[in-house]
Amino acid sequence: MKLIYKLLKLLLNQRAVKEDNETLNIILNRKSCRRFSKKKVSKEILEKILLAGASTPSTVNLQTWSFFPFDYDEWYQKFGNPIPFGAQAAIIVCADLKRLEVIDPVFKKFPYCFYTLAVMNASLSAMNMTLAIEGFGLKSIMLSQTGRTGFMDYEYIKEKLSLPSLVFPLTTIAFGFPENELLFSPPKLDKEVIIHRDGKYTLREEETIAWLKDMDFACNLAEGEKITEKFKNYLKMLPKAEEELANAFKKISD
Ligand SMILES: Cc1cc2nc3c(=O)[nH]c(=O)nc-3n(C[C@H](O)[C@H](O)[C@H](O)COP(=O)(O)O)c2cc1C
Repeated sequence: MKLIYKLLKLLLNQRAVKEDNETLNIILNRKSCRRFSKKKVSKEILEKILLAGASTPSTVNLQTWSFFPFDYDEWYQKFGNPIPFGAQAAIIVCADLKRLEVIDPVFKKFPYCFYTLAVMNASLSAMNMTLAIEGFGLKSIMLSQTGRTGFMDYEYIKEKLSLPSLVFPLTTIAFGFPENELLFSPPKLDKEVIIHRDGKYTLREEETIAWLKDMDFACNLAEGEKITEKFKNYLKMLPKAEEELANAFKKISD
């Protein structure tokens, strides 16, 4: 009985939302895609997606980001393997403090603030591009570790793209046409867990544990691996990534 209830809940979670607001529909129905068709993404669309990234709001309009676009062949030439999940296009998004050296090197005295600022702005640009991708009827996935595509492989990407210090690769947006329109969406936390309506923080442990159990069930069903196991594997990658990032971070104040 419990199993049927869990399955039903998961299935209901996959329903498409239809609101009167098209932007909201795009946001609410977005799902990460892990299987793409071989259909190419045109250069025109890629340029418009990059324009969406460049139009993102940023702290003092500093635009602390840099984008590296690739089509399938360009990626293959650069990295010697296909874009993960068979995607036909990709954009590597970096947090970029290098340009600030030209404007005012004072930022080097405040590495925590400026690193956070750069990561925040660049992450917003990644989301703007993700939504633009959805607007074209394409699908995407942001990557930070799969296929050495994000900040977890800082040194590797830095070397491949010949990045100067102060430029931090964060994530790769891999995108294209989906192989199948039916995408799987993992359960989200109940929104009351993350919204603190009375202006006072409340940790909702019970609901958080309930979500973890739902995630375990969903991941096990979809990928044959529980979230708790996934997380353990993720943790194994962290010591190297932490060290690489710490070294890069130190260079801000050098
Ligand atoms: C910054 C970032 C990095 C991610 N890195 C990976 C990754 O390396 N591999 C992967 O399979 N999914 C990755 N994801 C996708 C998440 O697993 C996915 O967003 C999450 O499970 C929620 O699913 P949804 O995007 O369908 O809502 C990443 C997502 C973000 C935002």
